[in-house]
Amino acid sequence: MNPALGKFILARTPSYILHPTPTMNTGMPLNTGAEIPALGLGTWQSAPGEVKASVAHAIAAGYRHIDCAFCYQNEEEVGAGLAEAFKTGVRREELFITTKLWCTYHTRVEEALDLSLKALGLEYVDLYLVHWPIPMNPKGNHPLFPKHPDGSRDLDTSTTHIDTWKSMEALLSTKKVRAIGVANYSVPYLEELLPHTRITPAVNQIENHPYLPQQEIVDFCKGKGIHVTAYSPFGSTGSPMMKEEGVLEVAKKHSVQPGTVLLSYHTARGSSVLAKSVTPSRIDANRKLIYLDDSDMAKLENISKQKGLTRFVYPAFGVNLGFPDKQ
Ligand SMILES: NC(=O)c1ccc[n+]([C@@H]2O[C@H](COP(=O)([O-])OP(=O)(O)OC[C@H]3O[C@@H](n4cnc5c(N)ncnc54)[C@H](OP(=O)(O)O)[C@@H]3O)[C@@H](O)[C@H]2O)c1
Repeated sequence: MNPALGKFILARTPSYILHPTPTMNTGMPLNTGAEIPALGLGTWQSAPGEVKASVAHAIAAGYRHIDCAFCYQNEEEVGAGLAEAFKTGVRREELFITTKLWCTYHTRVEEALDLSLKALGLEYVDLYLVHWPIPMNPKGNHPLFPKHPDGSRDLDTSTTHIDTWKSMEALLSTKKVRAIGVANYSVPYLEELLPHTRITPAVNQIENHPYLPQQEIVDFCKGKGIHVTAYSPFGSTGSPMMKEEGVLEVAKKHSVQPGTVLLSYHTARGSSVLAKSVTPSRIDANRKLIYLDDSDMAKLENISKQKGLTRFVYPAFGVNLGFPDKQ
């Protein structure tokens, strides 16, 4: 096309076409051909007595993506929330449900999936993730977090995360999972895994927010066709990120809440995002996403450049997970 004509057309194209505002259920493409809704409800640390109501409220409020995990020990209650939503006429196929394989089940992958499906009351999940690339002793002194007598983590060194992935791949033929993926995979771990895969992970779910942009993982995944889902977008419970100056400036410019900026930061990067809340008014508020322009993103990117790496959520495994020390 004539470059002058291209410029002419661009100048007259309405901004809402060039920069469509993401919505909570904008479908983000996965390498399976399916789509993952841009916003999911997180359920980590959603206590018994709270999580059923929060799941039911979120679905009634329009959420279609729910993030779960065996390790959160609340899947039965999440399932009760889902059942309540189904009673109101929501159909299973309208929802995108993710759950995760816990570390003590790396050698019992289908057994773990079946436990989650039973608790959730589902016949399949849309996405099953390896929660961490770290197998732990399935016969240790605790079913979820086994430790040696000296307090160090009791890892299962008889197997590797590559073996785990092969068991994940085998799940696809059972029809109990629509897609498989990983979580908490650094670039070195992905580089180790990918040459051994028959099926590329559909998703890498990672901690991600302006304190921890993980740009190298986001770029690497983009290059390999792996969708990134961001967790702990508010920095998790108790984080000061909502009060961060750069976040407040962008929020003021767009006349929105800081939370809207922190969620929209991910959709601007092409990632989906998980926001946890058990508070109905916050579940409602978190539905809002906006378009952030380059100057907004530069402001948000500046936060980690000024502060350096800050990591909140990572548990101590006693192994090098391959994440960089400084960003
Ligand atoms: N793959 C993994 O290893 C992994 C690890 C961590 C998290 N995740 C997933 O990602 C989800 C989200 O991460 P997260 O739970 O760590 O933390 P988060 O979503 O960053 O933050 C949750 C905290 O923010 C509060 N909050 C929510 N909306 C708010 C709003 N609009 N204004 C003010 N405060 C608000 C919540 O309080 P209330 O609930 O009291 O309203 C809660 O204390 C998890 O729930 C889980 O599903 C995955």
